[in-house]
Amino acid sequence: MKLKEIFKNVYRINGKLATKNLVPGKKVYDEKIIRIGREEYRIWDLFRSKLAGAIAKGLKQLPITPGSIVLYLGASTGTTISHVSDIVGLDGLIIAVEVAPSCMPPLIHLAEDRGNIAPIIEDANHPERYDIPKVDVVYQDISQRNQVNILLKNIKRHLKPHGYYMFCVKSQSIDVTRKPRDVYKEVLKQLSKDTRIIQTLELDPYDKHHMFILGQV
Ligand SMILES: C[S@@+](CC[C@H](N)C(=O)[O-])C[C@H]1O[C@@H](n2cnc3c(N)ncnc32)[C@H](O)[C@@H]1O
Repeated sequence: MKLKEIFKNVYRINGKLATKNLVPGKKVYDEKIIRIGREEYRIWDLFRSKLAGAIAKGLKQLPITPGSIVLYLGASTGTTISHVSDIVGLDGLIIAVEVAPSCMPPLIHLAEDRGNIAPIIEDANHPERYDIPKVDVVYQDISQRNQVNILLKNIKRHLKPHGYYMFCVKSQSIDVTRKPRDVYKEVLKQLSKDTRIIQTLELDPYDKHHMFILGQV
């Protein structure tokens, strides 16, 4: 079994991406489990998580590390969050904001199992409604027309000085009539006014019409 740690708590095992399971014996979304010695690793599905897709496409820096506090916008049922939870460990915290009530039962269940996730049912358009500590990273995966605006509002209110953001842009939600690359160009122009873009990655074939942006304030 060939195991290599590519970022803190993120591994490549026989060519597949994986995180070390914080809760051995428990799966989250029917992912494959690999045991090596006493440790258990969860294979991270590149087609079900944009963060996994971004790492596979060559993300150079992962600001989510053990102990990080992450504000995660667009939590859904917690597929990606479960891996972020493995990475930040019990010294870290993921504040998971999700607007859809139907996502809450599985997300709450995940939070109970893991001990480092705080689910909040709220609209990320209103960051003033969640009173939280300043965070190291804002992660956003929300398919809304005003997704850039949502990100900037949350950064302004909740991100620490010099903190990082990770942004999954869905061009089709912003403007389905325009070419994705034209939409990305405009998004990057908007973000460049107030932040520093570190890296951009187009996520196809894992997620079509998506760009992943890593930036810092
Ligand atoms: C593409 S899914 C997120 C998938 C998730 N990030 C993952 O990788 O496991 C987008 C989620 O954003 C949520 N969402 C959409 N608009 C929102 C808003 N204004 N505030 C909070 N969540 C929102 C949707 O309900 C949906 O669950």
